[in-house]
Amino acid sequence: MLEGKVALITGANRGLGKEISLALAKRGASIAIHYFKNRNLAESLKKQIGKNAEIYHADLMDEKEIFELVRRISAEMGEIDILINNFGPFIYKKWEEISFEEWDYIIRGNLNSAFICSKAVIPGMRRKKWGRIINIGYNRVEQIVAFPNITPYAIAKTGLLILTRTMAKTEAPYKITVNMVSPGLMEEGIKPEEFEIPMGRYCSFEDVIEAIIFLISDGANYITGTNIIVGGGWKI
Ligand SMILES: NC(=O)c1ccc[n+]([C@@H]2O[C@H](COP(=O)([O-])OP(=O)(O)OC[C@H]3O[C@@H](n4cnc5c(N)ncnc54)[C@H](OP(=O)(O)O)[C@@H]3O)[C@@H](O)[C@H]2O)c1
Repeated sequence: MLEGKVALITGANRGLGKEISLALAKRGASIAIHYFKNRNLAESLKKQIGKNAEIYHADLMDEKEIFELVRRISAEMGEIDILINNFGPFIYKKWEEISFEEWDYIIRGNLNSAFICSKAVIPGMRRKKWGRIINIGYNRVEQIVAFPNITPYAIAKTGLLILTRTMAKTEAPYKITVNMVSPGLMEEGIKPEEFEIPMGRYCSFEDVIEAIIFLISDGANYITGTNIIVGGGWKI
């Protein structure tokens, strides 16, 4: 299904990024495994995938490093067809106790990095007249309400949804689709003090991956600017 396609997944060496990488590789895509600090994890993922994977380091807080990352992947693997903006740091802390550095990190990590990665890959996708960008949101991204314990995260992810819809509109003439997939509470994540998930279980990596695979497939050629909430009915 994805033979000949080059995919960049940010934060690919572990967690959700790793599972997305394995799923796309299984369907034939070549994977640019991006990591920041844990090269050993990137190397073991490369071993798992085999020859259709290369490892790339970049600090996604740095615009120049992002452009250099995309330049290197394009030169070595081919222009990027699929971008998954997966890296998205989280903080659970009362808003008034958050330092400026923490605030800045969450906004830049979730919003700015996806903005710059998208800007860097879009010229190549426009040339090919095909592209898929998927931004990872979170369950409550469409809710404009008070979020006292996750304020910068909620602001950044909702901002990312606006960017998703904006890019969807401007890139549609180039046959580039831009969508968001928003996981609910995952077993690996930090949990609120009290919660009840109507489906009676946590969101699994597979749940999220199914939505991503659908949005990448030809069956979703006409679907752009949408947000798929993979939340098991939690907080809707
Ligand atoms: N976990 C949940 O419950 C949950 C729920 C809803 C949504 N989400 C979203 O799902 C996505 C994945 O979450 P996650 O918890 O698996 O991973 P994450 O914490 O967002 O990202 C971890 C990855 O980012 C890399 N990274 C860390 N700092 C970096 C930097 N400065 N520059 C570039 N890369 C950096 C890490 O690489 P190294 O290991 O090499 O440092 C690692 O590969 C996120 O967008 C998150 O917001 C998660």
